[in-house]
Amino acid sequence: MDFSLTEEHKMVRDAAREFAQNELLPGVIERDEKQKFPKDLVKKMGELGFMGIMVDPKYGGSGMDAISYVLVMEELSKIDASASVIVSVNNSLVCYGLETYGNEEQKQKYLTKLATGEFVGAFCLSEPEAGSDATSQRTTAIDRGDHYVINGTKNWITSGGRADVYLVIAQTDKHKGSHGINAFILEKGMAGFDVGPKENKLGIRGSDTHTLQFNDVKVPKENRIGEDGAGFLFAMKTLSGGRIGIAAQALGIAAGAYELALKYSKERKAFGTEICNHQAIAFKLADMYVEIEAARHLVMKSAWDKDQGNNYDMSSAMAKLYASKVAMEQTVEAVQIHGGNGFVKDYHVERLMRDAKITQIYEGTSEIQKIVISRSLIKE
Ligand code: CAA
Ligand code: FAD
Repeated sequence: MDFSLTEEHKMVRDAAREFAQNELLPGVIERDEKQKFPKDLVKKMGELGFMGIMVDPKYGGSGMDAISYVLVMEELSKIDASASVIVSVNNSLVCYGLETYGNEEQKQKYLTKLATGEFVGAFCLSEPEAGSDATSQRTTAIDRGDHYVINGTKNWITSGGRADVYLVIAQTDKHKGSHGINAFILEKGMAGFDVGPKENKLGIRGSDTHTLQFNDVKVPKENRIGEDGAGFLFAMKTLSGGRIGIAAQALGIAAGAYELALKYSKERKAFGTEICNHQAIAFKLADMYVEIEAARHLVMKSAWDKDQGNNYDMSSAMAKLYASKVAMEQTVEAVQIHGGNGFVKDYHVERLMRDAKITQIYEGTSEIQKIVISRSLIKE
């Protein structure tokens, strides 16, 4: 068993760390406050190869492994979880979904642009009445011979107002349940495709979250991904990889908060000494570090499973469940270590605490991860 990173891994981690420090950090408070989408930064992340990390270079990607992907996600998330969720959705939901399940024509037309960051992608599964209960899709895609007609509503869509390409899951044959669901590629500006107002959120405020409305949107048949009825499996399989990305995001949020808390505790004095010399604070730091390392092992194991070609449905659910809990709990501790300063925006930890919460909700809530894990255990 080898826990060391390769030179290539260290290089990509350092590149992401440098980018996060130099480019993401300066405007992060303002973007959070004003809910500003980091448009230019997304372009730069595309130039650095972060928008298609695992995509084959023949489609414009960086051709790296899942370990590299989580290293990048962790570093970006230490500073700006809004930017990292855009990266995560683009990489592990949209690019992965297209590269694994799309046909050659779809890859040439869409993946090549998504992998370089020229296009931004969105993944549209959730609906007002089908969130956790994802098989209950109300959006319909009716087969009209050479095209489908899509009607319905998707909500909570990350990059919803900014994306160029949308992977949309819809019900074609209600009687077939989850086997009557399909996945489609939609483009911005298609007739009948409307983007609703932006959500005003607790956290990841720099990312763009919208409701989408489809009114008789005509989608050519060649835009269906995979065989007829394969859309739910497509969504589930794609989400397993997405959960590795969000687990890495949670890890980064926790690690970022820990690093700030450690630094602050070595500078701030109370009762004649730096606060890290008070055992209550020192033990908090010890607990934080142990929890974050434990989360890191689960995240890395899941990425390793993916790289090895092992099934990672369960390990990704475990990584996301645990890392998101660690992110929530340890960001609260980081705020506590900062005292009053933890409560104001300049010290960053309050934002990390707000951002942490979403990692327990999206790409399957913590309760849903437990369903996935327990079903796998029982099946075994
Ligand atoms: N691999 C293979 N097959 C799978 C599978 C998997 N991982 N998961 C499900 N299936 C199959 C099942 O075997 C079943 O097939 P059969 O009917 O042939 O037996 C079929 O799919 C239906 O599955 P279930 O019976 O397990 O379905 P369910 O209704 O009980 O729901 C669930 C399962 C795991 C709860 C699923 O609905 C789920 O994951 N819900 C959460 C949705 C989610 O994660 N949404 C995230 C949206 S994207 C997002 O959030 C992005 C972002 O924020 C940035
Ligand atoms: P519900 O499913 O209504 O759940 C409510 C509560 O009930 C939760 O605590 C849940 O865990 C619990 N619950 C539900 N069913 C069960 C059960 N069987 N057993 C135990 N507990 C249960 N979706 C996309 O498709 N694409 C995106 O890009 C995207 N981005 C998002 C960005 C943000 C900021 C947010 C907030 C959400 C985003 N989502 C996205 C949606 C997200 O995936 C859903 O919010 C999530 O899956 C939960 O669905 P829900 O909100 O409908 O909650």
